Amino acid sequence: MNPPVANWTDRRVWLIGASSGIGEALARALLDRGARVVLSARRVSALNQVAGGHPRAAVVPVDAASADVWSQATLAAEQAFGGLDLVIFAAARYDPAQSADFDPALAQKSFDLNVVAIYRCLAEVVPRLVRQQHGGVALVGSISGYTGLPKAMIYGATKAALIHLAESLYFDLAPRKVSVYLINPGFVATPMTAKNDFPMPGLMTPEDAAKAILRGMEKGRFEIRFPRGVAGALRFLSRLPHAIRFRLLHWGTGL
Ligand SMILES: NC(=O)c1ccc[n+]([C@@H]2O[C@H](COP(=O)([O-])OP(=O)(O)OC[C@H]3O[C@@H](n4cnc5c(N)ncnc54)[C@H](OP(=O)(O)O)[C@@H]3O)[C@@H](O)[C@H]2O)c1
Repeated sequence: MNPPVANWTDRRVWLIGASSGIGEALARALLDRGARVVLSARRVSALNQVAGGHPRAAVVPVDAASADVWSQATLAAEQAFGGLDLVIFAAARYDPAQSADFDPALAQKSFDLNVVAIYRCLAEVVPRLVRQQHGGVALVGSISGYTGLPKAMIYGATKAALIHLAESLYFDLAPRKVSVYLINPGFVATPMTAKNDFPMPGLMTPEDAAKAILRGMEKGRFEIRFPRGVAGALRFLSRLPHAIRFRLLHWGTGL
């Protein structure tokens, strides 16, 4: 559905959320494959550690939740290597929540970072990519966006929004020769999931997640979901009628 990425050498990638977890592993994998990578997140020391003085890595600190950073940050990311070929938005926050005791301020923070920040970023990068008629944008969603799940009333809703957003973007951008990727991970062992107190089926390493993402882009996929078993099963479940789906999810999660 997208032109396959045949070669990563010298490709200019802006990775937002590169200081830990999946973003960090992706940054390292891209550098190993010869790409030029602009690393963004809030923690400058962590970003510098990932960059490790590599000549093909540049650090552009960004607080993605802030409304007025995008014009300057995009310019800095663009100037680092003289343009952008791929922008990957991996930054997010995860606030487990249930309706009995949830804090609406957390919903606001999650939507600001996980969703609204992406619109702000897209407003800067999409016109550039359309103008140059090549390159792509990748949104890191989650398989939790496929269907309502216990304790996911905030995080899951932000990720469901991204699935819709990526699909809509594809209609706009594919005819303009700009690739759109929707990356839907299952459970990956990162600082984000370290707080989970329940078994995480199919838990992957960030390195395997990064490999799966790059493989998906090399194959030209639109949706890149993993691990295959858990992600495929949840996708299948999400298409079942609500009465059956909810019963199976209640039974499967024990919640
Ligand atoms: N781990 C999983 O099981 C899993 C499953 C499905 C989807 N995902 C998605 O995968 C992506 C990466 O998650 P992860 O598991 O790798 O989590 P992580 O290790 O917690 O990484 C989150 C990244 O986002 C950055 N970030 C957070 N707030 C930010 C802000 N305000 N501005 C800029 N950067 C910010 C963090 O950097 P700083 O703190 O330095 O800012 C960090 O680099 C997320 O979109 C997540 O929703 C993860």
